[in-house]
Amino acid sequence: MNAMAPAAPAAERIVVPVALAERSYDILIGRHQLCEAAEVIASRFPGARAAIVTDENLAALHAPALEACLQQAGVSATRLTVPPGEASKSYARFIELCDGLLAAKIERNDLVIALGGGVVGDLSGFAASVLRRGVRLVQIPTSLLAQVDSSVGGKTGINSSHGKNLIGAFHQPALVVCDTALLDTLSEREFKAGYAEVVKYGLIDDPAFFDWCEVNWRRVMEGGPERDHAVATACRAKAAVVARDEREDGDRALLNLGHTFAHALERLTRYDSSRLVHGEAVAIGLCLAFRFSQRLGLCPGQDAGSVAAHLAAVGLPTRLQDVPGGSGTAAEIVEAMTQDKKVKRGALTFILAHGIGRSFIAPGVAAEAAHGFIESELAGT
Ligand code: GLY
Repeated sequence: MNAMAPAAPAAERIVVPVALAERSYDILIGRHQLCEAAEVIASRFPGARAAIVTDENLAALHAPALEACLQQAGVSATRLTVPPGEASKSYARFIELCDGLLAAKIERNDLVIALGGGVVGDLSGFAASVLRRGVRLVQIPTSLLAQVDSSVGGKTGINSSHGKNLIGAFHQPALVVCDTALLDTLSEREFKAGYAEVVKYGLIDDPAFFDWCEVNWRRVMEGGPERDHAVATACRAKAAVVARDEREDGDRALLNLGHTFAHALERLTRYDSSRLVHGEAVAIGLCLAFRFSQRLGLCPGQDAGSVAAHLAAVGLPTRLQDVPGGSGTAAEIVEAMTQDKKVKRGALTFILAHGIGRSFIAPGVAAEAAHGFIESELAGT
């Protein structure tokens, strides 16, 4: 897509509300929503100025179109860019961004607009959460992963040398705009990686959605109504969980299905995206969570097989052996899992499943059980 081309007409918009009392907000979903979003911003936050935070790649791709829409709607906007990639979720970039927002004179009633994927969303969300003790945040996610997961629910943060996302805050956005046409520019690899997070919602508690994904995944990739349906279904599911458990005291942990394994693999591959990106790690993690459940006698093998078959059909990795350069030994993987911030007093918490759409939180899983399972996975038995 040429960012400078005349804006295509907006397609039908789906609105998903996130019900959080005084912190409630809407998620707007559809193709070509940037100008609609600018109108919504102008009418909901009259007089607010905007700072668009984006990365150097997206600045060229999507920022000019958003700026034109904001200008048309009478919203004055300034732009701040950060380098692309996970390395930007650092103390140094965080300080630089806060200073940049202050230099741009962003005040309490103004807006930070995060235009980007998970990195931009997490970093600018965290900056918005502390700037002048909290300014409003609008998330305009540009990756599938960010549209169906990280832009919704208020988790923000940066990484520390001790691990990913260990420094952060809950800061709910005031608006989320999922323009599904922005996903047209994603690489196939990036799109597929985000798709693992879409499938996750079916595996958690919506078996009919998993069935739908098996039939419709190609059309989700191509764009059109199926893509919007998939994003809306994922956002509705996430909105419902967040409304029940905003700060992850209970049910919200279900959204971590596959993530205990995934975070360990990302850690062991040193967050090197040439080897593994988050969604690919999640795809392997989802398969491992189901096979671990099967091994523990909790889940039928047929369900574990269907999860792996679907993700493999899409072209996602499903086994530890699929990690380029190797995943590490069982001991290394278990050790990496114990670094996860969801570890409580050394006991591992997994999200396991009684079947597709029947996931549950399993706290206190013995490290030996996980070790034995991973050894068998590595041995291919
Ligand atoms: N990504 C998981 C959550 O938002 O809770």
